[in-house]
Amino acid sequence: MRDRRLTVPCVLDCDPGHDDAVAILLAAALPELDLRAITTVAGNGTLERTSENALRVATLARLDVPIAAGAAAPLSRELVTSPDIHGRTALDGPALPAPDRPLDPRPAVDLLADVLLAADEPVAVIATGPLTNVALLLRRGPEVRGRIREIVLMGGSTGPGNVTPAAEFNIYVDPEAADEVFAGGIPLRMAGLNLTHQALATDAVRARMRALGTELGRIADEWLDFFAGTYRSRFGLDGPPVHDPCAVAWLAHPDIVSSTRAFVAIERDGRFTRGATVVDLHDRLGREPNADVGLELDVERFWDLVIGALGPQEKGV
Ligand code: BDR
Ligand code: CA
Repeated sequence: MRDRRLTVPCVLDCDPGHDDAVAILLAAALPELDLRAITTVAGNGTLERTSENALRVATLARLDVPIAAGAAAPLSRELVTSPDIHGRTALDGPALPAPDRPLDPRPAVDLLADVLLAADEPVAVIATGPLTNVALLLRRGPEVRGRIREIVLMGGSTGPGNVTPAAEFNIYVDPEAADEVFAGGIPLRMAGLNLTHQALATDAVRARMRALGTELGRIADEWLDFFAGTYRSRFGLDGPPVHDPCAVAWLAHPDIVSSTRAFVAIERDGRFTRGATVVDLHDRLGREPNADVGLELDVERFWDLVIGALGPQEKGV
């Protein structure tokens, strides 16, 4: 049994998605985290797809936490999905077990608020999809907000984007939500593309997954095989960046990422810059910093954690 006093209580809001799926497995396995709920948002696929995928991944991992579906569309825009990267189902690749449970009947934001209010200490929110649910959670008001320990999110970039030259996908999909979250006054860590592009699933990394001889290792390798193909054809990258687990690893092991405090503005609109994160690394704007911006990842330790999460599991069982 885990010692709950030594773990960080957390919830994971995600849009699985290959890298979200690995993030779920990592959050479930790390003894430093006490994962209390998973919520889904439309992003890599429709809400129906991302919710189904979250249920299947939790079933695969024998992970017993409530899973609830949230926003089917951004706060005020049409949904943009990512079939070119994640495929038709948003999690194309190996066959996964059918879900062994239904979704929690509560809307995601209700489940998140219930978890926060019931916890005996503030709870961290890990966000690896568009920030729609998180923005709606913050709108619940001071009682709920006061129960959030911090937000650790995968999104944005200090440099180029991926969905457009200026914008990273999660922020691009719902820039209004991202703006509310970054302006929300809650401690926030940003694992952007500049950081997550250090977490490349190279052939050597994937060979370690296969060598585990576990079902999780095999399936993660096959997910990354699909992901590698789309990243190769779209970006010419050999190993795909496994973005979302970086946020999970950073929460569990704060020293795995070096970061700097900075003011981050979200470009809601712009002829070519919708969803850009304007990261004021050199304090040119004189604004109060609102985020810890991840800069450098301890890549070796990161992969050790991920590979460990795919091996035989002890936590919580
Ligand atoms: C982010 O967008 C999605 O495609 C991934 O799951 C990740 O969260 C990377 O830009
Ligand atoms: Ca994601």
